[in-house]
Amino acid sequence: MNAKRITHLIKTKAFTRQNLPDGMPNGSNLETEVKGLLKDWEDNRKDFLLVKSAILYITLRERARQPKGLLPLFWEAENAIKGCATYPSSVGPVEIRDGRGVVLGYRFRIPDRLIQILNHSTASLQPTPRRARGGGGDPLIRGKFQCRHYAVWSDYSSHYRESKELARDKDEGREWLETNKELFDYCSQQLRFLCPEQYVKMTGSVAKDMQKAQGPAGKPLKPLAGAWHGVAINEGLQGDESKGHQDCMDEKRLFNCVVPFGNGFSGGDLVLWELKTRMGLGIGDGFFFYGSVVAHQVLEITEGMRNSLDLFTHASNFDVLAKHKKLANQKQYPKKEKQVRAEVRTEKAKKVPENVKARREIREGKQVRQRALKLGSTSNGPEASSSKN
Ligand SMILES: [Fe+2]
Repeated sequence: MNAKRITHLIKTKAFTRQNLPDGMPNGSNLETEVKGLLKDWEDNRKDFLLVKSAILYITLRERARQPKGLLPLFWEAENAIKGCATYPSSVGPVEIRDGRGVVLGYRFRIPDRLIQILNHSTASLQPTPRRARGGGGDPLIRGKFQCRHYAVWSDYSSHYRESKELARDKDEGREWLETNKELFDYCSQQLRFLCPEQYVKMTGSVAKDMQKAQGPAGKPLKPLAGAWHGVAINEGLQGDESKGHQDCMDEKRLFNCVVPFGNGFSGGDLVLWELKTRMGLGIGDGFFFYGSVVAHQVLEITEGMRNSLDLFTHASNFDVLAKHKKLANQKQYPKKEKQVRAEVRTEKAKKVPENVKARREIREGKQVRQRALKLGSTSNGPEASSSKN
């Protein structure tokens, strides 16, 4: 099983000689290195709780495509929360899989040191206005809190670009991203082992394509939160402000990663409605889930304020990649070559009547020969019959 897993991690190119976290030591080989890294990861999450979901990922995706608007939504029913299985933070790592083995959610622990760095670096950011965060026609669907996005995305655009909020925060924003790089890499590493295909999808062709675009100061653009292309920094959610919603701009085949942080809070469990799951997320937990296909909601924060990071990747970046690939497949010929090709085409077109003419002559010749043969056989007929008699 382990050998299969190692082969899979190498085959998907989640691990190559070039992208090993600490480089390839002399005299070693890729299999040995990946085996060691995988063992460390498995040891770290040993005794994790495996939960089987009654709903398939494919069904969730199908449902996410359907138009919304049937009210009341099932989670608005009274006591809907009572039908959810609860996994308090104290349970430790939890992996949710569907009946076909597709991972639908994963809770893991983050080292305290990284959360401390996150707390300090975020506290030094300039406050932003505490606003209602809407979606789906409801101005308060995500609750009321401070939020900023540091991301590369292509929303309503034909090219990759950095978010305006990062441009606004300038050096302060870039310093925050740099300071928390280790945290993003830690979360990315979890994803790399759990779902290597997702890691490769976020860091592969799309990231290479993105590099061709220039950001501020002429630097190439790149994903800003480890493997994820962006991060939302949410601060100061309190009370019972969040409602059930999906994050429709996020890529449906990729996980979001939620990282709560701050000075401490109570409550604020994350409900995944279709999965009938209530996931306790305390400070020091990280959680992967499909924010764009699963309706989710933060339950009442009974004490303090909840801050959280949401690492995400917008689907729009993959639309731009697809467009660029399509353009690259359409061969672009220089002007002179175009003229030559046009002349060849004309020549070919001219040859067609000659061919037609030749075919007609052959056909006519055949008809003449057949007619002559017929005439000959008619005139020879009586002689032939008389000789027989
Ligand atoms: Fe959300």
